[in-house]
Amino acid sequence: MSVRVSVEQAIATIAFSRPDKKNAITAAMYQAAADALTEAESSDGVRVIVITGDGDAFTAGNDLEDFLRSPPQSDDTPVSRFMHALRVTSKPVVAAVPGIAVGIGTTLLMHCDLVYASERAKFAMPFTQLGLCPEFASSVLLPRLVGYQRAAEKLLLGEPFDVQEAERMGLVNRVLPAEELMPFVHTQAKKLAALPKESLRITKQLMQADLQSAVSGAMQTEIQHFTRMLKGPDAKEAFSAFLEKRKPVFR
Ligand code: COA
Repeated sequence: MSVRVSVEQAIATIAFSRPDKKNAITAAMYQAAADALTEAESSDGVRVIVITGDGDAFTAGNDLEDFLRSPPQSDDTPVSRFMHALRVTSKPVVAAVPGIAVGIGTTLLMHCDLVYASERAKFAMPFTQLGLCPEFASSVLLPRLVGYQRAAEKLLLGEPFDVQEAERMGLVNRVLPAEELMPFVHTQAKKLAALPKESLRITKQLMQADLQSAVSGAMQTEIQHFTRMLKGPDAKEAFSAFLEKRKPVFR
């Protein structure tokens, strides 16, 4: 089981659950997570969604072996279904980040409403290091969140940053000791679950209204570049180098 889904007290928890691979996400896991989000959105019994990772990681992002073996060929892929399902969710989404969050592990947080992280969490968007480009509208959402230069540092260099920096950037609401993370997230989720559904839905909708077209436009453009670049020589070299545990050499 690589995506664990449970519903308790009107809170649906969707956990990336592949701890031996730092919860790296395969196509099958994207599909399972997309299905779980769609089900949570339509279910009357769910009022809040929690996204987390099992073990000591949130997620190491796309499974690079999976990408190398079968790169997405079109716009309609499990990863784009997952991104769409998260983006259109009208219910509050709370992220609990226990550890490393790479690539989509960081960019998906920009689509969550509340983000809580353990003091062990670390973040990275190493797209350029992988011969790729940003995805999930991070090319527009990150500059809006932190300003152009700080976003450029994270997206051009792709270097990891710690949880204190993520909190200062506004990507994380609060940093907690590791053992307090899930209890705190459940407290916050229960508070949301007790509030009137419609008020939450409309509030979220109002806050996101002016961003919608910029986000969907960016996602469309990004995915076209991303899909093309995935098949390119730089990405192939970067993925092979990671799997062979060596440094990539870009021509
Ligand atoms: N895809 C496939 N496998 C991955 C993976 C990924 N994205 N991230 C980690 N793994 C695997 C490793 O290959 C390793 O497998 P092995 O035990 O069979 O050798 C296992 O998960 C543990 O990873 P490891 O690198 O030993 O852990 P670490 O704590 O030293 O480092 C990371 C963790 C996440 C920093 C590091 O694994 C990493 O940089 N991963 C790649 C992240 C990435 O580029 N994601 C894509 C973004 S688009």
